[in-house]
Amino acid sequence: MTHLFPIRRRDDRPWLLDLFCCAGGAGTGYNWAGFTVVGVDIAPRPNYPFTFHQADALTFLADLISTGEIERFSFIHTSPPCQAGCALTVGTNQAMGWGGTHVDLVPTTRTLLEASGLPYVIEQPNGKAEIRKDVTLCGEMFSLGVLRHRNFELGRWSATRPAHPKHRGRVRGWRHGEFFDGPYVAAYGNGGGKPSIPELQAAMGIDWTDVREELTEAIPPAFSQWLGNAFLTQTRTGAAA
Ligand SMILES: C[S@@+](CC[C@H](N)C(=O)[O-])C[C@H]1O[C@@H](n2cnc3c(N)ncnc32)[C@H](O)[C@@H]1O
Repeated sequence: MTHLFPIRRRDDRPWLLDLFCCAGGAGTGYNWAGFTVVGVDIAPRPNYPFTFHQADALTFLADLISTGEIERFSFIHTSPPCQAGCALTVGTNQAMGWGGTHVDLVPTTRTLLEASGLPYVIEQPNGKAEIRKDVTLCGEMFSLGVLRHRNFELGRWSATRPAHPKHRGRVRGWRHGEFFDGPYVAAYGNGGGKPSIPELQAAMGIDWTDVREELTEAIPPAFSQWLGNAFLTQTRTGAAA
């Protein structure tokens, strides 16, 4: 493999590897927290606002580990998809010999993250692949217009679980033939009552992509900013695991 980072730029910020990065919802929050962010996604992501590599995330990570270039990084965030029939992932995994048509990238991701020796995060929505729910974040914790509950497994570091606040109301939209109004929009799908692109951008705190798929795949940057701040605070005080 050719070296990916041949020139060591003068950069005092710690480097974060953002795997399965999509358009950078997670990456942007880590950048706000103080990291220099490098993203990897199997699909072209021209809206990704930081250094971007189009590649299979796990091959990319394995290469960084085997060449020693992983040492350039201080932290790894991962958002592996876990969808039966997800065309991108299934194709990749069949090509890589990592499984059949029902793909769960989380176990392989975790194995490689452990091999990296770095502190890491694995992010998953409720009801998807099994991860430890060390931290669960909700949009209401950050006064957002989405709930967007997300679970985070923390490897080689820990954080205090924040209390889950009471929701202000319901998620706006149609359910079982009935329309419900409420202070939150549904950041998924495209059906009746679903938010417009500007509503979705405002609710998520994302203004650099107007691609619905990228908005509905993202976590709000406020979530990863919280994680990044928690990690960097520990590192600075010498409390990280
Ligand atoms: C849930 S989205 C990530 C969202 C992102 N963390 C954010 O906050 O904006 C999952 C991404 O994984 C990408 N993906 C799927 N299989 C992949 C693979 N094998 N390697 C790299 N990226 C992959 C998809 O293209 C998609 O953009």
